[in-house]
Amino acid sequence: MHDLVVRGGLVVDGSGSAARAADVAVRAGRIVAVGAALGSARQEIVADGLIVAPGFIDVHTHDDRLPLVDPAMAAKASQGVTTVIAGNCGISAAPAPRQASPPPPLTLLASKSAELFRDFARFRAALEAARPSLNMVLFAGHSALRAAVMDDLSRPANRRELDAMQAMLREAMDAGASGLSTGLYYPPSQAAPPSEVEALLDLVAEHGGLQTTHLRDEGDGLIEALDEALDSAHAAGVPLVISHLKCASPRVWGLARTALQHIEAARGRQSVDFDVYPYDASSTMLRPDRLRGARRIVVSWSEPYPDKAGHDLAVIADGWCCSPGEAAERLSPAGGIYYKMQERDVRTILAHPSAMIGSDGLPHDRHPHPRLWGTFPRVLGHYVRDLKLISLESVVHRMTALPARVFGLADRGRIAEGMAADITIFNPDLIVDRASFDEPLRPASGIERVIVNGLVIREGGHATGVRPGRILTRHDMRSRASQAEPAS
Ligand code: ZN
Ligand code: CU
Repeated sequence: MHDLVVRGGLVVDGSGSAARAADVAVRAGRIVAVGAALGSARQEIVADGLIVAPGFIDVHTHDDRLPLVDPAMAAKASQGVTTVIAGNCGISAAPAPRQASPPPPLTLLASKSAELFRDFARFRAALEAARPSLNMVLFAGHSALRAAVMDDLSRPANRRELDAMQAMLREAMDAGASGLSTGLYYPPSQAAPPSEVEALLDLVAEHGGLQTTHLRDEGDGLIEALDEALDSAHAAGVPLVISHLKCASPRVWGLARTALQHIEAARGRQSVDFDVYPYDASSTMLRPDRLRGARRIVVSWSEPYPDKAGHDLAVIADGWCCSPGEAAERLSPAGGIYYKMQERDVRTILAHPSAMIGSDGLPHDRHPHPRLWGTFPRVLGHYVRDLKLISLESVVHRMTALPARVFGLADRGRIAEGMAADITIFNPDLIVDRASFDEPLRPASGIERVIVNGLVIREGGHATGVRPGRILTRHDMRSRASQAEPAS
């Protein structure tokens, strides 16, 4: 007797091979059989006309504290996501900064340092106590480490500070973190030279972890910044994931192909992967010094002026009779949505056969970028079904088995015997994102059921209240690093 059988669906198993009709049986949190006539079960799910896929892995999130405010993790569960990778862009909920107010962009997670955690063991314990619906993979952020040990973030770390950061990073990895995220673009880490990053990466290498990176520059200096990231990870022998690959200034518009070729060339000597989100606008902290090159900027949150969330920066500046830069200064700490990419670059990157999907959603923003609620259904509905830019099988692979391999989640990402039963069932004709830039909090439709570790966490557009998520740690990443697998 199985715990659960999903009958009558079309299985897209994550491997990239063609969809096939098959039933899926689950027992004790694992997939125990895929095929026909699998026998009876306590719970039957009829999936006629639906796709049965591995649960999606959102490879780029800032969901570190999401379980503490919404353990159901609705923004992600509603998209069919079953695992989130948190702690990206140099930003993590541990270790907490020395200052009472976190330096931006750590404010993306919390406005007070007291809401962050002294170390990863405490952070992890808090997550486990919250019992999230989804699985989580955690990274330690370089900016968080700097803010935890340095009073002056405008210079490279000295020897003593580097020792302290290494000790904290070691604690994080021992507590289950999968590696280091860096965000050299951001003020707290901007002054860090490659040698500082490499010293931390050496420790990541020792622990068999990996690095995710928000490049120092995604605009004019994109290619140079790519080289810097590739060289540092190569020097340390650490597998690298380039986060939210994009061409974010007029001077680099049209260079998506060039950037991808750069990554492909590097694959001859090191392990490198990348992710993308399906929108031509970005979102992050509002930086008064980085307003150039955007067609339009919309405020996503502001601490001193919460009512300005959702408003155009240019309109606010007009109303205040000042420059956009001055308006941004007055609104800070704040977040912004920047319209500064070209759709053709977004499509070029999305269409690459090894592009993973990461939402980069910002769950604490008052008026968030719609990627928070829309990313995965938008790829499956808009780009796969409507535009036919990519095949369903390829994109499901890049949402499941590929990230499972990249992040060392050996028993996830495929519908196959022995795998953990993370399963997303969706209607390929109806799946669509409904979150828009004007109404960013609308849940997607077409996701029929979401199963995490063998339990149904969502059905009929509602959370079931079951919360079986786990903190996942990497399985033998060390061996993966030494294999330096080619792109699939
Ligand atoms: Zn980022
Ligand atoms: Cu990010």
